[in-house]
Amino acid sequence: MNPVTTALAPLTADAARLRQRIDTFAALSEPGAGEGVTRLAYTPLERQAHAVFTREMTDLGLTVWTDAAGNTLAERPGTRPGLPALGTGSHLDSVPNAGAYDGIAGVVAALETAHLLTEHDIEHAHPVRFVAFAAEEGARFGQACTGSRIAAGLTGPADLETKQDADGITLADAMRSVGFDPAEAAAARWQPDEWAAFVELHIEQGSVLESTRTPVGVVDQISGSTRIMLQVTGRASHTGGTPMHLRADALAAGAEIVLLAESIAGDTRHRGTRISVGKIEASPGSITTISGRTRLYVDIRDIDSDRQRLTAAELVDRATAVCRRRGVGLTATTLADASPVVLPRRLRDTVATTCTGLGIDYRVLPSGASHDSQMINHIVPTGMIFVPSRDGISHSPLERTGADELATGTTVLAASLLALDQQLRPAPQL
Ligand code: GLV
Ligand code: MN
Ligand code: MN
Repeated sequence: MNPVTTALAPLTADAARLRQRIDTFAALSEPGAGEGVTRLAYTPLERQAHAVFTREMTDLGLTVWTDAAGNTLAERPGTRPGLPALGTGSHLDSVPNAGAYDGIAGVVAALETAHLLTEHDIEHAHPVRFVAFAAEEGARFGQACTGSRIAAGLTGPADLETKQDADGITLADAMRSVGFDPAEAAAARWQPDEWAAFVELHIEQGSVLESTRTPVGVVDQISGSTRIMLQVTGRASHTGGTPMHLRADALAAGAEIVLLAESIAGDTRHRGTRISVGKIEASPGSITTISGRTRLYVDIRDIDSDRQRLTAAELVDRATAVCRRRGVGLTATTLADASPVVLPRRLRDTVATTCTGLGIDYRVLPSGASHDSQMINHIVPTGMIFVPSRDGISHSPLERTGADELATGTTVLAASLLALDQQLRPAPQL
């Protein structure tokens, strides 16, 4: 008899409950921010979402705490004292005008798993921790995965003082504004010996699963990301009075750089590289003034770390040449840099074997997006489960995953955690 599937037979995730939680979190959105969900990192709304998580976990009888980074953790105790924890979870913040699933899918899957374990009175030897990470999205401060970076010891107070949002508010000040002291960040650091394994469920944010009609993805690699701000300095001047040949137009140079970035990513040396300029600030931003200063925010993603950094360097070199030819200046500032990660084979195999045991088809694939798992894997062996994204769309109000699809992924998540609980038990003392 297979002990894993025997233990798991009752643990079938409930699609209606998952849908209800998705809707509850989606309702927590900045009023007047337009379409979709806007719940940015280190805002009162993000904290409200954490309070919802805390309430449900507390109602289930779990011990819940929030760490100095704003991550919320809930623990269901194991039956064997002293064993390290198994973990699962994802993030509750969003990009501006987001969908309802990025990050949230993994948190509602964690809530559902906690619910199933409690409802069915399932015993596990290891404690199981359910985590809602804070501030995963890089949309506000440029740097992604702040809560999990702090947990992994990859960022600290000095770094948090340097990152700013569009209003000049530092990450550190934003943390203070919602009650966290960045000077205490080290207290949120996870100790490797307290953790046995972590598995995050997330939406794919791409179209591989949907196009291949595969319900579950098992992630093998997570892309890295280099984020740079290119500031082009020209000369602001009257749009009517300044002849075309006498201009130093920062926005026109910026536009050429945007197309340069696209063409670099499209050439055959960069198969797999993704370069995007997702944000442009043209100053002074008047229809009757030639832009004197334009800022381009560039995100370079790759699963090859050398190619990621070399591409960033090539873009800066070639953009410098564009600016020289156009008689404008260029400065490049690195806003954030994360390396790609290969997730451990062992966890991948556990999730894959669990899928097979449950009769659920799966496919191994890389992640183009960043995830808390990328950081957490520095501390604890981590696996990722993807569920399909409708039309491959994410970071958009059109983002969608069916409740049944989410339930299938959550069933695999719960089963994988219980499989790990069996596999990672130390042999009994004779
Ligand atoms: C996280 O959502 C990312 O930007 O990859
Ligand atoms: Mn996410
Ligand atoms: Mn995201």
